[in-house]
Amino acid sequence: MLAPSDFRRFAPPVALALALAACAGRATDDRAGQPPRRPTPDEQPAKPWDAFASLDSLKTVGETRSAHPAGDFIASIRVNDVAARYGTKGREPLPEGALVVEALATEANTPPAVYYAMLRKAPGYFPDGGDWAYFVVAADGTIEAEGKLALCARCHAEAPREHVFEIFRGPAP
Ligand code: HEC
Repeated sequence: MLAPSDFRRFAPPVALALALAACAGRATDDRAGQPPRRPTPDEQPAKPWDAFASLDSLKTVGETRSAHPAGDFIASIRVNDVAARYGTKGREPLPEGALVVEALATEANTPPAVYYAMLRKAPGYFPDGGDWAYFVVAADGTIEAEGKLALCARCHAEAPREHVFEIFRGPAP
């Protein structure tokens, strides 16, 4: 388990994550009331997240008050079939195609404000990130950031195995 003091050394990723969240907010505000324009080559146009439509078919494994620095959120954690071993804290690796999603809501039983997700890729894809692709997805299913996200990977490298923390309470029996 991580003691609260363990999180102190995550201060730089915290700042970065807040910056990322702030950028995402600003992008929307700046566009408000302005005519549509083409994205510049440096910008990624808003892209729909292909897992969004199938979120309801994922298995909910539990929830936790999230330690993510983006805000004070309740996380509901969902996995696909390939990630069935998630949460067992076992030694068997989570295979390619394993998807773990945190739906982050400000309060229990309210719609998610944002999704954080990890999709296991082939070995060698992103060794520093445990070969996961990391996603930040807006409530409406558009991807805000995806891929080899260093700020996610740095903190997840502290996790007990394979860059996953597996910290949650299971559903009430
Ligand atoms: C400051 C450390 C930190 C950062 C930065 C961080 N995470 Fe996490 N993450 C955690 C912790 C701790 C958990 C355990 C559950 C919780 O607190 O929400 C977790 C859990 C998760 C889970 C559930 C799988 C697991 O590890 O058990 C996903 C998915 C996830 N994070 C995605 C992301 C994404 C995407 C980013 C980057 C945008 C990110 N995280 C950034 C600490 C971090």
